[in-house]
Amino acid sequence: MHIDIITIFPAMFEGPFTQSIIKRSVEKGLVSLDIHDLRDFTKNKHRSVDDYAYGGGAGMVMMIEPLADCIEELKNKRDYDEIIFLTPDGNLLDQEMANQISTLQNIILLCGHYKGIDERVREHFITREISIGNYVLSGGELAAAVVVDSIVRLIPGVLGDETSALSDSFQDKLLSPPVYTRPAKFRGWEVPDILLSGHERKIHEWRMEKALERTKKRRPELLEGNNNQK
Ligand code: ADE
Repeated sequence: MHIDIITIFPAMFEGPFTQSIIKRSVEKGLVSLDIHDLRDFTKNKHRSVDDYAYGGGAGMVMMIEPLADCIEELKNKRDYDEIIFLTPDGNLLDQEMANQISTLQNIILLCGHYKGIDERVREHFITREISIGNYVLSGGELAAAVVVDSIVRLIPGVLGDETSALSDSFQDKLLSPPVYTRPAKFRGWEVPDILLSGHERKIHEWRMEKALERTKKRRPELLEGNNNQK
């Protein structure tokens, strides 16, 4: 999978993309990531990417020219399955959406700032709009990093144990059951006996029961087929 990210803060990706799973997936050649500084596509001497909103009002708007130039340059090199804009008024990211995006070949993630981007970019270039939650971030970068993380770990071969992404919380609309590791007893707090029994079927049943119990208690709407937490 190839991911292009358009941003005015390229350095914000240095941390998340040079650690852990994302770093490994790039090293294994399963994912390639290119970060594009939108300011490289400006024609004015101040390298500004924003301007006042027509009609007045507070807040600057990201201009169409550098965005169009950047997107078109990328489109000349690749065919994109999706050109995604990160925005609080997009569709809420959930596991099902991450699964679907992880099957794509080439995507662009566009990070917005200020008051937003010129609406004509959304009308003429953007194919999908994603929000990572009902709150406003200062820009789309952190949201883009979340989207990348959620999809990259699903690409076959990225996680060492192929089953581990499938057993994540949400994959089957259930939260994960509790997990424990050594020691079996800490300050008198014990690991449930069943997990030490070696009885695979019973352990599986216990985990299913706990997953269901936890989901009913914490996120009952998942069991009703409505993923969006109120
Ligand atoms: N940009 C600002 N807030 C955002 C959010 N909640 N999700 C995606 N992009 C955003």
